Amino acid sequence: MSDQFSQAFRDEHRLVRDALLDLVEAFQKRDSHRAQSILEEAAKLAGPHFRYEEETLYPYLVEIFGRDYIEKLLDDHNRIIETISTLVEFSRNEQLSDDEVQTATDLTRTILPHVSDCDGLSIMVERLSSEKVQSILQSRDRAFSENLDLFRWVNEARKRPDLVAA
Ligand SMILES: [Fe+2]
Ligand SMILES: [Fe+2]
Repeated sequence: MSDQFSQAFRDEHRLVRDALLDLVEAFQKRDSHRAQSILEEAAKLAGPHFRYEEETLYPYLVEIFGRDYIEKLLDDHNRIIETISTLVEFSRNEQLSDDEVQTATDLTRTILPHVSDCDGLSIMVERLSSEKVQSILQSRDRAFSENLDLFRWVNEARKRPDLVAA
């Protein structure tokens, strides 16, 4: 069960990783159309991904990490949501200056550590009960079937999770 989770989780992070690396390249080539389409794809995937992380995965991991680290992961999400909005603004500008290209590159790179940190959570998921892993997989299915992109999820469905300390 946790293998099935790790595999799906890893595949999603791979897509996000590749999207971010492609985005850096698109900004550096000043290819605003490509940057816009990458950001659109990234927002489509990140919506359901962040959603099931916040609805089930992160709250379940409080029993392992305690609250502080989970709060940090939620803060990462807040920061990433703001960063993606800023990057969308940059991607609409077809004539970025050198400084703006550098800023867009730096901002995109600030998201990368969350991708690798988040993927590493799989090793902790192995210690959750199979009922909890099952429930994470179910909330993942729900999130992908409702399919709200990042901005719609934030505006329409995102709630602060209850982090119950174990
Ligand atoms: Fe993640
Ligand atoms: Fe995350």
